Amino acid sequence: MNASKKSGKRRVASRVLLTILCILGAMGVVVGLGMWTSRYPDVINMGTACMGEMQHMDTMPQMSNMSTDCQGASGVAIPIASLHAPETAAHIAEFTLTAQYAHLPFFAKDQGDAWTFNGTSPGPTLRVRQGDLVVVHLRNRLSAGVTIHWHGVAVPNVADGVAGVTQDAVKPGETYTYRFVAKDAGTYWYHSHQESFEQTGHGLYGVLIVDPAKPSVHDDVDVPLALHTWNGTLAVNMTTGRQRIEAKPGQWVRLRLVETDNTPHLVTLAGVPFLVAALDGHDLHEPTPLTKVPLVVDGGQRYDLRFQVPQSGAAALYIASDENGPYQKTPAVVIGSEGAAVAPVPAVGPKEFDFTTYGQPKPDAITAKSHFDVTYTITLNYTFGFSNGRPGPVFTLDGQSFPNTPMLMVKEGQLVRLRFVNEGNAGIHPMHLHGHTFTVVTKNGRALSGSPVRLDTISLRPGESYDVAFYADNPGLWMIHCHNLYHANHGMDMMLAYPNISTPYNIGYASGNFPD
Ligand code: C2O
Ligand code: CU
Repeated sequence: MNASKKSGKRRVASRVLLTILCILGAMGVVVGLGMWTSRYPDVINMGTACMGEMQHMDTMPQMSNMSTDCQGASGVAIPIASLHAPETAAHIAEFTLTAQYAHLPFFAKDQGDAWTFNGTSPGPTLRVRQGDLVVVHLRNRLSAGVTIHWHGVAVPNVADGVAGVTQDAVKPGETYTYRFVAKDAGTYWYHSHQESFEQTGHGLYGVLIVDPAKPSVHDDVDVPLALHTWNGTLAVNMTTGRQRIEAKPGQWVRLRLVETDNTPHLVTLAGVPFLVAALDGHDLHEPTPLTKVPLVVDGGQRYDLRFQVPQSGAAALYIASDENGPYQKTPAVVIGSEGAAVAPVPAVGPKEFDFTTYGQPKPDAITAKSHFDVTYTITLNYTFGFSNGRPGPVFTLDGQSFPNTPMLMVKEGQLVRLRFVNEGNAGIHPMHLHGHTFTVVTKNGRALSGSPVRLDTISLRPGESYDVAFYADNPGLWMIHCHNLYHANHGMDMMLAYPNISTPYNIGYASGNFPD
């Protein structure tokens, strides 16, 4: 009797063990399959030379794999190399940027090196005049391939710096030259677009300023301020503490804020009323003075602030660690004379800056009432699953993650409307379009009531939607992606493409090109 009880127990135990093993095995198969099927293919070609008139492709990578040896059903393919800047111009602004390791002054001894251009992060501020032909020689002294993307600048496609789309990543020891005409004045920035989440985070970025050919205002003091978080510590340019910019009472100051982080910061200026003069490099019409109004600056975005130094005391820029506040004591930027009393850290004001009602309206080529030739709705969301072989969060566009996201086809001359809808209940998504700037026409279905607003990066909070529109005037293969580069690295990318373009470059394991 004892013996049969014992063997009964044993039978139960072995059944439980078998069940557990089966469940683990099944989980292993699911995880393995997810990792395997979500892994990028070895070769992804973004060319559109074989696609003809198709719009809103959803079998994009498979279809377009053919494009390198296909001359196209509707005419001769346009090679990406033909989409380039003129060879020469009246004014040429020439620079060399060397990607190299460097130890930043505020890094701890054991912290390792930053990845920099020319030994600093931000790299050198490139300052050119509107209309200049900009020529930049990239030299790579790092041990990984890099590129340079000119964020916000409508460059010819071949100068866009997207690894696997417009070029191969520049290998260690190699050089590469970018050429583009700086058509629009304003504040822009540059960063690597090979493994951009990792490389921009490690410091491969800098500021590009295009001065207007005919300035409409005069600034006595003009300073770019790049925000970047290093191992949890926020820095403004190369400083994590308080820095001072010398300026005399009555002088006009322009601060060019550049958000190089993935998540937004709340920023304000204390001690003096200020104007938001430009967003993403594009002037706002008749901006009105703001007093300590909180500004939410999201990944990839730029804010130009202008103000006159007060007669007594110094103004100060304060920043919060996220989009909610409170403002921190440091890093801070004080603007004024040495010894002047510095405006103290303010409490976060109740009403944050709203560009949809700011400034004065003026006639604009694109409005909510324009006739749009084509409209694409892009829903933003996230889920849990696998992206490029890794389990974890997956950020989606139209329910798909890269490279399975649909390709948006546009034709030259079309007025294109993109309707971004953030359907997720968490996560802010700063959506960035390459090669074009867009006019914001509505927010949550409502037309803007203030100045026209032209951006290259639009930030959407959960539940928000924006319609943006632009003329398709720059043929090529262009990315649209979230500039929270972690999201981009986990699926939140798609392509906007003109028909009949071929590229010899590929994304994927065979080439080692991974734009995000
Ligand atoms: Cu600033 Cu595609 O990036
Ligand atoms: Cu995002």
